[in-house]
Amino acid sequence: MTFSVLKCPNCGEEYNINRNKYTCDKCGNILDVFHYDMKYETTKFKGVWKYKNMVHPTISEDKIITRGEGDTNLYRSERISKYAGINNIVMKHEGENPTGSFKDRGMTVAVSEAIRLKFNKTLCASTGNTSAAAASYSALAGIESYVMIPGKNVSTNKLFQAVSYGANIVDIEGDFDNAMADVKKTIDKTNDFYVLNSLNPWRIEGQKTIIYEIMEKSKPDFISFPAGNLGNTSAFGKALMDLKSLDIIDYVPKLLAIQAEGAAPFYDYIHGNKDHIEAVKAETIATAIKIGNPVNYKKARRSMEFSNGIVEKVTDDQIMDAKRVIDRSGIGCEPASAASLAGVLKLRESGIIDSGDTVTSILTGHLLKDVSMMPEYKVLKISDIL
Ligand code: F0G
Repeated sequence: MTFSVLKCPNCGEEYNINRNKYTCDKCGNILDVFHYDMKYETTKFKGVWKYKNMVHPTISEDKIITRGEGDTNLYRSERISKYAGINNIVMKHEGENPTGSFKDRGMTVAVSEAIRLKFNKTLCASTGNTSAAAASYSALAGIESYVMIPGKNVSTNKLFQAVSYGANIVDIEGDFDNAMADVKKTIDKTNDFYVLNSLNPWRIEGQKTIIYEIMEKSKPDFISFPAGNLGNTSAFGKALMDLKSLDIIDYVPKLLAIQAEGAAPFYDYIHGNKDHIEAVKAETIATAIKIGNPVNYKKARRSMEFSNGIVEKVTDDQIMDAKRVIDRSGIGCEPASAASLAGVLKLRESGIIDSGDTVTSILTGHLLKDVSMMPEYKVLKISDIL
């Protein structure tokens, strides 16, 4: 029989999943969900819960809070292929999820778990997308959400979503890293809240399904994505470990975690071969990944090692340049998402990716998530076209 435990990836200590725990009592590491006797058997559901047996095998169906997230499309575009200099590049659009970002995949699992554990309040820190998803799924579950937001650093559209879904907004002075520190402080003092940041190992389980879907449809050499708090980086490596251990795949694609140059502590950590990540004061136009002290860096390192992956960094200009190409191709994405293409271009130009390689880039958020930077456009008069 398949069953799940919370397990420390560092010291191996295990905890019952009925305990509300995020970190190991013994060594302080962030916990993983570990499924004993896991099976690759898909269900009648679509999207995330199609993979219930690899995500949350034992939760009863009546506890599941879902908006039908996942099962997002892959897009090819000649314009993007030409830009990247790669024939075989596809974009997987996570902006097609119900609240417009990949966060919904983690949130459906974590909020279902909040219900299973009988919580009636959720809490998260956010650069915007997590708060939108947390607010939506908590409302759907009929429980209250509290979101800690560094007001000045969050796009109005994302705040609009959280407010509209009825979240309690806690304004935090400073940036995402201050908000994340306040979440940790809060849960040290009270057990009232269920935390929905990617510190929560169930979020990671839901986000693994992006990789399950990609590997079911194609066999890319590289998978690129923007990296901030490193939840996705952690989830993607774990998903590949699952598939490899069950013999569903016979090779491991290389993960390409792309950071913004002004918010690249993971890049420094991996390339500097350090024991600990060194926090930086983050600065980038891509506010979704404006994160200087990512919580998941150890699990993320495991992902990069397992996939023999690469951490790259790109400038804001490179991000916005790639975004213009994605937008003009008719696909569109928010600024942070475009780092995934900017990183691919940089790695192709440096010869690490070959024009004949197969690449899947993950667009993490919808075009309408951030409309603060209106592209230049020309206004015509009727007389100009008659
Ligand atoms: N792309 C988008 C659009 C995001 O919103 C985020 C993270 C990332 C990429 C980075 O993903 O944290 O897993 O490395 N946004 C979080 C939030 C932090 O609060 O919405 P990651």
